Amino acid sequence: MAEKEKIASDKKTMRKKLLRIEKEKVSSMLKKTSHKKLEPKEVKKSGPKKRRTLERKKIRKAKPKKRKKLTKKTLLKKRGAKKLRLGAVEEASTVGEITKGFEKLKPTPTKNSVVSIEGLPTYNMIVHGPMAVFPGVPGYRELERYWVDEPFAFVVVLENPETNTRLYYLVEPVLTESEQDLLDTIVERMRGSIPYVGSPADKEKFLAKKVMGFLRTLEVSDPKLVHKIVYFVRRSCLGYGEIDPLIKDPNIEDISCNGLNTPLFLYHRKYYNIPTNLTFTDAQRLNSFVISLAERSGKMISFGRPTVDGTLPDGSRLQATLGDEVTTKGSTFTIRKFAKEPFTPVHLVKYGTYSPEMLAYLWLMVENKKNLMFIGETACGKTSSLNAISLFIPPDAKIVSLEETRELTFYQENWIPNVTREAVGGEVPITLYDLLRQALRQRPEVLVVGEVRGQEGLVLFQAMSTGHTCYSTLHANTVEDAVNRLEGAPINVPHNMLAALDVACFQSISYLGKRRVRRTNTIVEFAGLDPATGGLRINEVFRWDPVRDKYDKTGDSMLLREIMQARGWSQADLERELTERAKLIKYLADRDIVRYEDVAPIMRNFYANPEKLLKQLKEVKKTGRD
Ligand SMILES: Nc1ncnc2c1ncn2[C@@H]1O[C@H](COP(=O)(O)OP(=O)(O)OP(=O)(O)O)[C@@H](O)[C@H]1O
Ligand SMILES: [Mg+2]
Repeated sequence: MAEKEKIASDKKTMRKKLLRIEKEKVSSMLKKTSHKKLEPKEVKKSGPKKRRTLERKKIRKAKPKKRKKLTKKTLLKKRGAKKLRLGAVEEASTVGEITKGFEKLKPTPTKNSVVSIEGLPTYNMIVHGPMAVFPGVPGYRELERYWVDEPFAFVVVLENPETNTRLYYLVEPVLTESEQDLLDTIVERMRGSIPYVGSPADKEKFLAKKVMGFLRTLEVSDPKLVHKIVYFVRRSCLGYGEIDPLIKDPNIEDISCNGLNTPLFLYHRKYYNIPTNLTFTDAQRLNSFVISLAERSGKMISFGRPTVDGTLPDGSRLQATLGDEVTTKGSTFTIRKFAKEPFTPVHLVKYGTYSPEMLAYLWLMVENKKNLMFIGETACGKTSSLNAISLFIPPDAKIVSLEETRELTFYQENWIPNVTREAVGGEVPITLYDLLRQALRQRPEVLVVGEVRGQEGLVLFQAMSTGHTCYSTLHANTVEDAVNRLEGAPINVPHNMLAALDVACFQSISYLGKRRVRRTNTIVEFAGLDPATGGLRINEVFRWDPVRDKYDKTGDSMLLREIMQARGWSQADLERELTERAKLIKYLADRDIVRYEDVAPIMRNFYANPEKLLKQLKEVKKTGRD
């Protein structure tokens, strides 16, 4: 009994203490923000009677009308302090509870609105107020809002109905001049002190503690300010500075800065090409930003060598220019964002770029060592399709890949990734052509060249004609275009060697109404040279019908017939092989099994024991159980 009483009295004292702390916090905040008018209310409950009357008199003199609005109670309520007093905010664990009553704080807070790092005061968006507030843009209406780095940065997509233009508006915390000074000093001090090794989470923790150390010496302890500073330091020391939130936005495919005083443009998955509210206005700042991007991709850029191609640490592809000699509007950069998850064949079905039947066809081609090329316009998804199709390569096949910038990822372990090297400071340059010649001595079973642009194209076709299985991509829009590019300078593939390529998939970005979609217009087989005319025989197997948005089988495959004969299959065997594969892909797509980590083991199982996997699949169909 006595114990119970003790606990009750302990709780009482704790509550009193918390209440006192909260009152102190509020009063110090009021003082800081010089809302003198609020002081009397503050004292009302806590101060001695005499002082209270005195203060009351003061306020009546000052601004009697506002008194009602600015009571301590409303203020505490506004800051969620009432909840804190009861210990409820700390316990609030559901999103509903956190967001209750804060619908106006858009985008709506979620669990991530509470930032808690060991050694730092906890920031809670509801208690301490939002970090970033959207000021609105006159003439524009809002289409959508979403977090990119909660609770620090969110995006508002806007539309101007008059001009029919859209704007991608990034909202981040705003720093006052003195806060900016403080930040600059801290960033300066932090440089070079972040360890190179360790996981990103460890680095973030280290950085936060270090920043807190500086802030403590300056007696800064306000949770909101502390986390605001930590956010900006993290952004500039570990992230990509001003464009860090854009890198974090999974809806963005490309980020481009076309020069000084022009807004950064994006390619957004939903809104396509869209300008942003971010502009570099200082030439020096833009130059140093481009230099730091190049450095982060391990390359050198200078006014003497003003262009660079590289891969950023997160895998994104970088192209940049420095100064205004080669790009007249000043330094530029284009970042092709790295897809966090590599594409799988199931993604291709889900996006409508291939049908399960087309993928079953390509699967048999890969399995039977046919040469493939993905051809199409810029950014139509050639590399992504190539990467996805690579899942059909048997798990133990030796793969050698060659690229100018690393983009490809294979799950197979028996893989040598190669990248070219530019000639920097007297070093010997290593081109795709050099790499390809080397690669042929590495006894590859599959050779993958990221993109054919120059004389490596000829070596690739030579490799194809000497029995190597090769996959690559090429920029071209039509079959004629592709043939001309391959035959013309600088690729120079002799006409009679073109037939070494077996299958070409022609992709494009097309419009379906207002929607931009990636589709495979046609899959063709290069079926040898016509003995009479010497012309290249093209056999179309699949074609996209834009009206129905469906793929049709338009011709009989000569290659499938070849495979059938080589493997001793009957027509029925071939049909079965194709339908089972198409069914497997459709099965995965229907169940949303798209991720690389999930699809790769299924492929591995397929190669280990196709009968077993297909039998399991049949049972699932029969019983409906996974
Ligand atoms: N089938 C698809 N459906 C939807 N998005 C896709 C598809 N394929 C690729 N993408 C997206 O399109 C962007 C460009 O893809 P990718 O790099 O594969 O194109 P590319 O044709 O190789 O480009 P480039 O011509 O620059 O080499 C990437 O952001 C990727 O995530
Ligand atoms: Mg590509």
